[in-house]
Amino acid sequence: MTRHLITSAIPYINGIKHLGNLVGSQLPADLYARYLRARGNEVLFLCATDEHGTPAELAAAKAGKPVDEYCAEMHGVQARIAEGFGLSFDHFGRSSSAQNRKLTQAFAAALYEEGLIEEVEQRQIYSQTDGRFLPDRYVEGTCPNCGFEDARGDQCDNCTKQLDPEDLINPRSTVSGATDLETRETKHLFLKQSTMKDRLSDWIDSKTDWPVLTTSIAKKWLHDGDGLQDRGITRDLSWGVPVKRGDEDWPGMEGKVFYVWFDAPIEYIACAQEWVDAGKGSDWESWWRTDKGADDVRYTQFMGKDNVPFHTLSFPATIMGSNQPWKLVDYIKSFNYLTYDGGQFSTSRGRGVFMDQALEILPADTWRWWLLSHAPETSDAEFTWENFQASVNKDLADVLGNFISRITKFCRSKFSEAVPEAGEYGPAEHALIADLTERVARYETAMDAMEVRKSAAELRAIWAAGNEYLQAEAPWTTFKTDPDKAAAQVRLALNLIPLYAVLSAPFIPDAAQKMLTGMKVSDAGWPDDVPAALAQLAPGHVFEVPEVLFSKITDEQREEWAEKFAGKRT
Ligand code: 2FM
Ligand code: ZN
Repeated sequence: MTRHLITSAIPYINGIKHLGNLVGSQLPADLYARYLRARGNEVLFLCATDEHGTPAELAAAKAGKPVDEYCAEMHGVQARIAEGFGLSFDHFGRSSSAQNRKLTQAFAAALYEEGLIEEVEQRQIYSQTDGRFLPDRYVEGTCPNCGFEDARGDQCDNCTKQLDPEDLINPRSTVSGATDLETRETKHLFLKQSTMKDRLSDWIDSKTDWPVLTTSIAKKWLHDGDGLQDRGITRDLSWGVPVKRGDEDWPGMEGKVFYVWFDAPIEYIACAQEWVDAGKGSDWESWWRTDKGADDVRYTQFMGKDNVPFHTLSFPATIMGSNQPWKLVDYIKSFNYLTYDGGQFSTSRGRGVFMDQALEILPADTWRWWLLSHAPETSDAEFTWENFQASVNKDLADVLGNFISRITKFCRSKFSEAVPEAGEYGPAEHALIADLTERVARYETAMDAMEVRKSAAELRAIWAAGNEYLQAEAPWTTFKTDPDKAAAQVRLALNLIPLYAVLSAPFIPDAAQKMLTGMKVSDAGWPDDVPAALAQLAPGHVFEVPEVLFSKITDEQREEWAEKFAGKRT
């Protein structure tokens, strides 16, 4: 038994995430967590909402709510949706927690003591009406390049030119519309991560087993262009972790907060504290402190590729720079993007399927299966309604669902709702058991390696093997001439159901539970010994035909949904 710490990138608090976000971190992390638990490991699986930063402030303002209230509400919404998708977090925390505030300030103090924080004087836009410095995105005006009137302080959306707020003609505050803006001197903190370049580079080079997607992004950031830049870790916002050095005020930093990307990954640690404080665990340090037992922990992170630089460089720089015995990540599994029907998912235009909508139209397992079996691992993947319909109807309804309903109903009609006793296994049965033994081993290898698509393909092949056996042996025909032989065939086929349930549970947990409930199995463990697992339903074991597991998606539904999600949601 190994202790596994698993974290998923923590989703921004503003708005409900789309299926592309889900498949890029939370869902594969859940697959892995469920698998490792099923195999008897001790797992701590954490996720949270990423609540600080400009987008949260802007979204709250748009919703007409105080930002803390907005975040509390949206955390509840995201937590409910996560539950709906069966995401089995041990804790779903909040980066705005008191635990994270304290820990973030403690990290800043440690980095300061190590000489890794520089105070940099900068010129920045100050709004007299608002009584505050304005971050770049809070200043708008006319683009000096193309004349577009609503260019943002960091970039013009019309001509894409990168801008400084001081470049804008007729600048105004987006907070109040005020135009009495001036440039003032102000101080910001920079983390001197450039001084850690060699250490980070050696560390990345030592990770020879990491996915190429992860290491190639990390190396690009380390070595391309100017290489690893020092990083501004403070912002002029009111919502965030106040800049302090531990409990002490930080002279000159009054009214500033840490940059959201500084405190967000620290929440991975704070979340474990929240988990303990919520009474769900008793010891977070043994997961996170190498001086308290975390050396034995294997830590895996899941994220989309846009998050890789922060997890391969910035957060490790925070951890290494602190010179304290915090656990570093052991493996980073990253994902490409999922596109939607020939384009991108778009939160602003409501293009694509969002997590809440997905659950309104179909059970979570259908989405879980399609997303995981098409995970954008080695390249971007595309969601199309045709592919989704085909995959759900074929894999889930025809292959898995049909196998279960066919064999249980046949048994009920020709024998009873109990495992038949007569007959002996012949060559075909032994061949199937041997074949499944090999296939299960291959499935385990793929799951251990977090090869998500390959795991799905192996699982699908395991389901198909049962169907092919039934097709070839046709107990309904055998029954006419040799009812005992048919009884043996049915006995083996029924025994496939709990095996399938356990193997499939990481992908489709609800359906797996229905399979076990129907077969009246309450103690199915992982099939470490496949032949033994295929004998667990003893002759005479009573069952009920499980309820229909998956309904097919009709052409009408497919057309309706394609139209509905083309991009109108506001
Ligand atoms: O991209 C995102 O959704 C970010 N909120 C991920 C943060 S992950 C971490 F660092 F906390
Ligand atoms: Zn422009």
